[in-house]
Amino acid sequence: MTDRLTIRRPDDWHVHLRDGAMLELVAQHTARQFARAIIMPNLTPPVTDAAAARAYRDRILAALPADAGFTPLMTCYLTDGADAEAIAAAHAEGVFTACKLYPAHATTNSAHGVTDIFALAPVLERMQAIGMPLLIHGEVTDKDIDIFDREAVFIERTLAKLVRDFPALKIVLEHITTAEAAQYVAEAPANVAATITPQHLIINRNAIFDGGIRPHAYCLPVAKREGHRLAVRKAAVSGSAKFFLGTDSAPHVVEAKESSCGCAGIFNAPFALESYLKVFDEEGALDRFEAFTSENGARFYGLPLNEGTVTLERVAHRVPDRVGDDTLSVVPFHAGETLGWRMVA
Ligand code: NCD
Ligand code: ZN
Repeated sequence: MTDRLTIRRPDDWHVHLRDGAMLELVAQHTARQFARAIIMPNLTPPVTDAAAARAYRDRILAALPADAGFTPLMTCYLTDGADAEAIAAAHAEGVFTACKLYPAHATTNSAHGVTDIFALAPVLERMQAIGMPLLIHGEVTDKDIDIFDREAVFIERTLAKLVRDFPALKIVLEHITTAEAAQYVAEAPANVAATITPQHLIINRNAIFDGGIRPHAYCLPVAKREGHRLAVRKAAVSGSAKFFLGTDSAPHVVEAKESSCGCAGIFNAPFALESYLKVFDEEGALDRFEAFTSENGARFYGLPLNEGTVTLERVAHRVPDRVGDDTLSVVPFHAGETLGWRMVA
């Protein structure tokens, strides 16, 4: 049995680091495990231009020790007013790595999101021409569509048409949760990929209602039926280069989660690698772990692989109930559970 695993230093291709005191609390957890991360732009107000992205990148770096060796890769929050010229210029300058599409009102801080993605054709054409990835929160926002069907319907109604209309555009379907998404991406051309979170590999929708309502198991897209979890697991460990690590770590203070209208988001950054490794271990796929964590994403984005390594050991440890202090406290994924692997270096 393998008890120690050393892999190339990984990247997180989807994370929410927030701002202010929350940023100070959570950034270190992501920087401890990952060399680079794609930083989600859904702040209030959202990060829609190069000046805001530069300033946010500086705040992220300021929240970390000087020797953290961590590179935030910034994203542009697309709005109906997105400008192709400005986005291309910020990409050329190295400020924006990718653009993020939130359908308006799909999730936390998405009120400024896009109402009709096809109206942004000039922006998408430009992104396609310069090889800039489009990262998609793939859910329809139509209230008449059952919440558990919103991802599959998005693929049918919107994604398939986007892939047809912009055949060379690099597209990442973020945080996939369904068999439909896993199959669509697996069969799509090579310029279409997907990120997968730890929670969607580990919990199904029963976790949200286990003996009572469990706000800390609620995120968007919401966890689906067991069959979907199994399909997403299969995709993650398949060895296909189209699937890679994106935690969607999305911290909210405990009071915002444990509320009559609790926020969507799971804070998995403290033990993200351990979560993923648990899955690859259970699936007998330790030999495919490194490609998923440290190679597939970088190759898709056209970025160099990281130098350096991280090492994980098979050792049982209990995940704390809270991260933070009396003034700002977040419940991490796996709170109170025992994990079987731990990153040691
Ligand atoms: C994210 C957040 O809180 O910003 N929440 C979530 O449940 N994943 C937004 C998002 O990525 O949908
Ligand atoms: Zn997210």
